[in-house]
Amino acid sequence: MTPESPDLRSPAMEIRPVLAVDDIDLSDRNFWMRPHAEREGGFETLRQERPVAWMKEQEVIGAPIPAGPGYWALTRHADILEASRNPAIFSSARGATSIQDLPPEFSEFFGGMINMDDPRHGRQRRIVSRGFTPRALAKLEESVERRADAIIDRVIERGECDFVHDIAAPLPLEIIADMMGIPESQNEMLFRNTNIILGLGDPELVGEGGNIIATALGAGAELAALMKEMAAERAETPGDDLTSQILNAELEDGALTGEELASFFVLLVVAGNETTRNAVSHGMKALCDNPGERAKWSADFEGVASTAVEEIVRWSSPVIFMRRSCTQDTVLGEQAMKEGDKVVLWYNSGNRDSAVFEDPYRFDVLRTPNEHVGFGGPGPHFCLGANLARREIKVMFERILRRMPDLEITGRPDYLESNFIHGIKRMPCAFTPGSPSA
Ligand code: HEM
Repeated sequence: MTPESPDLRSPAMEIRPVLAVDDIDLSDRNFWMRPHAEREGGFETLRQERPVAWMKEQEVIGAPIPAGPGYWALTRHADILEASRNPAIFSSARGATSIQDLPPEFSEFFGGMINMDDPRHGRQRRIVSRGFTPRALAKLEESVERRADAIIDRVIERGECDFVHDIAAPLPLEIIADMMGIPESQNEMLFRNTNIILGLGDPELVGEGGNIIATALGAGAELAALMKEMAAERAETPGDDLTSQILNAELEDGALTGEELASFFVLLVVAGNETTRNAVSHGMKALCDNPGERAKWSADFEGVASTAVEEIVRWSSPVIFMRRSCTQDTVLGEQAMKEGDKVVLWYNSGNRDSAVFEDPYRFDVLRTPNEHVGFGGPGPHFCLGANLARREIKVMFERILRRMPDLEITGRPDYLESNFIHGIKRMPCAFTPGSPSA
């Protein structure tokens, strides 16, 4: 580096590969309690030395679910892509969102189409996709902007707040509620129940000694009851929300039944809510840790936004894994697999693979190309809400960088204890107080 070309890039994050490959157990809670740099080091070691690694399974603590037979852990980007692209061999129907086999009625209710293969998956996806067309998203645009401003208005005079609770969390939830036509009075109930379902591994959210399955079913039942009530109302007086559209759709696939609607709704609030919230929270932390990157984005918000948003999703990897199961004997990454074997796609690791990303531990708002797998790999289950999420992240940061330009994180983030969702529960922040917009 010459004095004429100073290195304006942020330094790369430190990683510590302290574990030998045989000592890495991705099913062990202690692995996930290690400092972030050591976990990243563990994944780096797996990618280099054992990219398709056999892992034991553990019992689900607090639930009557025995430990399963184990699974193949995919940690390289290329192998994650290959499994995602071949759903006929790598099936989602035996459960995509949990490594353990959950009772089938449980997986179906909680995951809906994310836990199905075609043709059932394709039928549901075609019906609900109507809510995610460019036209439907354009209709939501005004709502995203107005709500983002209102969120900032609520805290801006205080000069400090909890970034997660007060800034990152409300927007995705409010937008899903707007999409579905849910009254605002239900927002607190939505927030509480989705927190429970997604935070299942974290004792604070379930309550020490609580039965995870019973707690989750209770939360799901409350959400489903709301949908049933709304379905009855919309059958009488249809509105122009997604709930009315998918109940009354006149399509060759038919409309969704009331049960299917309830489970789609549970999938939507769970998939669309915590993910986007965590992307915004980790994104803010990354911008505070890398002031040079923040300055670049602030100086040219529109010009940098599209690459910055993708980098935030890569960096945060809010969904850590999804699972598939082999429908036949096969070979992946030179590893022979048997019919029925479980395969876990570690997106967090794919997103740090140096075969694809130059200097993967550096947060770079101008990163191009950026073929991350934060929204899943290419294939039938690729995130349905990706464009909506991108929009929400962009609008939220436009407001933050413009209206709270000196916002800083003032304490250690309190991380969710989970190997599935890369979450932040609380994160204090401070900023110069301003005025609410007119
Ligand atoms: C940064 C935010 C988000 C991230 C990181 C994310 C990530 C993902 C991932 C990894 C998958 C699974 C892909 C697979 O199994 O192959 C997925 C699926 C899905 N996501 Fe997202 N998501 C986000 C936001 C959203 C939003 C805002 C919505 C809707 C409001 C949404 C709705 C869905 C749905 C419905 C599926 C299931 C698709 C299917 O099975 O066909 N997501 N998402």
